[in-house]
Amino acid sequence: MQIQFKDKVVLVTGGTRGIGKKIADDFLALGAKVIITGTNSEPSTEIKESAFIYCSVDFQSKESLKQFVQYLESLNQIDVCINNAGINRINYLENTLDEDWDDMLSVNLNAPFFVTRAVSRIMKKQSYGRIVNISSIFGKVSREKRSIYSITKYAVRGLTVSSSIELAKHNVLVNTVSPGFVMTDLTKKNLSEVEMKQLESQIPIGRLAQPNEIANVILFLSSDHNTYLTGQNIIVDGGFVNV
Ligand SMILES: NC(=O)c1ccc[n+]([C@@H]2O[C@H](COP(=O)([O-])OP(=O)(O)OC[C@H]3O[C@@H](n4cnc5c(N)ncnc54)[C@H](OP(=O)(O)O)[C@@H]3O)[C@@H](O)[C@H]2O)c1
Repeated sequence: MQIQFKDKVVLVTGGTRGIGKKIADDFLALGAKVIITGTNSEPSTEIKESAFIYCSVDFQSKESLKQFVQYLESLNQIDVCINNAGINRINYLENTLDEDWDDMLSVNLNAPFFVTRAVSRIMKKQSYGRIVNISSIFGKVSREKRSIYSITKYAVRGLTVSSSIELAKHNVLVNTVSPGFVMTDLTKKNLSEVEMKQLESQIPIGRLAQPNEIANVILFLSSDHNTYLTGQNIIVDGGFVNV
């Protein structure tokens, strides 16, 4: 099976770092025209010198999201959309801040919804589309200090299921990928070295994932080879949630 994205237009939100960057690099290498988003007004030199189309958008700002959605609505082709941008501020329920609620719902849930609504209109006209929403194992199980994060990641699965039902007849397939623990900035910010070592012993595969191990699954779901898989949640966690 050979996967390629020649002549496809792909959007990856949060494509500047971590899982999103790896996905975006792969799409580019496989021939797609790739739009990525990041929060900085100017992209890094590496991104500037690449073939990416860079959009600056802060999903914490309603105005910024609105402008980005208007930009999407002005496009006449979008074949693949990866709703990847996400934030995680961990805290005990009683210590959560009001702004954590607002920010995490804005980035992790409002953005995927409004982006999906915009791209689905284009995909319906094309009678073609593949959407992958990035949730988390914490959209399937949860832990202390993950209340807001889990709420958003469970909700993302609801977005997948509901939109997949509406869009299937238009050949627009929508799925969720739920990573376990992946070596990215987000993970390094939230877990100490000691916590990471402890986690490794709880993961049947015995280690954290690398971004490419998540990206490979997303590439298949986004490709022409995926013709019958929709509305599903693929958990890529080295077996973590089963024990
Ligand atoms: N890492 C894990 O172990 C793990 C596990 C399960 C699920 N996930 C999920 O996978 C996705 C990617 O995670 P990651 O670990 O790759 O994250 P990451 O390395 O922290 O990268 C986050 C990306 O989201 C963008 N972003 C952050 N805040 C934003 C905002 N306010 N508005 C718009 N974009 C924003 C960042 O842009 P800038 O570079 O401009 O900040 C960056 O491109 C997230 O949805 C996360 O919840 C991650």
